[in-house]
Amino acid sequence: MTAAATAMALSTTAGVASAACDTGEIVVKFAHVTNTDKHPKGIAASLLEQRINDEMNGTMCLEVYPNSTLYNDNKVLEAMLQGDVQLAAPSLSKFEKFTKQFRLFDLPFMFKNIAAVDAFQGSADGQAMLDSMQRRGLQGLAFWHNGMKQMSANKPLIAPSDANGLKFRVQSSDVLVAQMEAIGGSPQKMAFSEVYGALQQGVVDGQENTWSNIYGKKFFEVQDGVTETNHGIIDYLVVTNVDWLESLDAPVREQFLTILGEVTEARNKEAFAVNEAAKESIVAAGGTIRQLDATQRQSWVETMMPVWDMFSGDVGQDKIDAAQAINA
Ligand code: LMR
Repeated sequence: MTAAATAMALSTTAGVASAACDTGEIVVKFAHVTNTDKHPKGIAASLLEQRINDEMNGTMCLEVYPNSTLYNDNKVLEAMLQGDVQLAAPSLSKFEKFTKQFRLFDLPFMFKNIAAVDAFQGSADGQAMLDSMQRRGLQGLAFWHNGMKQMSANKPLIAPSDANGLKFRVQSSDVLVAQMEAIGGSPQKMAFSEVYGALQQGVVDGQENTWSNIYGKKFFEVQDGVTETNHGIIDYLVVTNVDWLESLDAPVREQFLTILGEVTEARNKEAFAVNEAAKESIVAAGGTIRQLDATQRQSWVETMMPVWDMFSGDVGQDKIDAAQAINA
């Protein structure tokens, strides 16, 4: 169906995915976990939906299910392998069951900004990662950017030792578990959809995330403040099922991939600005943001850096070196 029809269907279903595609159209379900506005992934997914449904009307119909309304990230890849969903864009931290290569992106202080992440992903090493799970049935199609991670808790975090004994929610990544243990925290893996409630009820004391996620899911409202640590990144892999992609007729596949490539390029350029706007919105909404001076930040670097050695075997020292060369 067309974008206008999608918009009408959306307005009647309160943010749940659009209703009926036309008979004969290839239905593509895209499940993700974030909000749709003021969010790099949410905006990109909506743009993809609009363009596919306009330009491939009659052939393909994309339905976006945001906010974990269809699957959370812990379930979506299994669902994809079973053919229940065709597109997802989980963060790179959520592929551990399928590849250890992406652990590179979780290593603290590996990348100084999203431009460095973009450059690494565009290199031969980065592009090869798109194909790293083919044997497991998953095909990476594109990297989508979010931004740098910040730390928040129910007390001020200035020195790493302030995190001592606190419980932190982490994504399902052993690197992130090790990172939180390095600062004396007690990490708990948890789905994104459960974080707000867990912070509110004191199941966990703190979390790490990007400005757009901290704003979009209102984490700042149930935290003492957010410390601008920029200690890591959240980035996404747009992923599909190998067999599903191969099942498309070549011209259909080509048009789909071309639109996806154009959306990726257009929206990745804006990810930084979207996060900056979310940061401003946090302040405007009364949230507290704390800065670190150079000495304070260095002590977070020194406390977290030993994590690299724990995972260099999984990631490959050559990849770490390549990332650091780009990061220089
Ligand atoms: C998280 O679980 O914190 C993030 O991966 C959510 C997201 O998709 O940005």
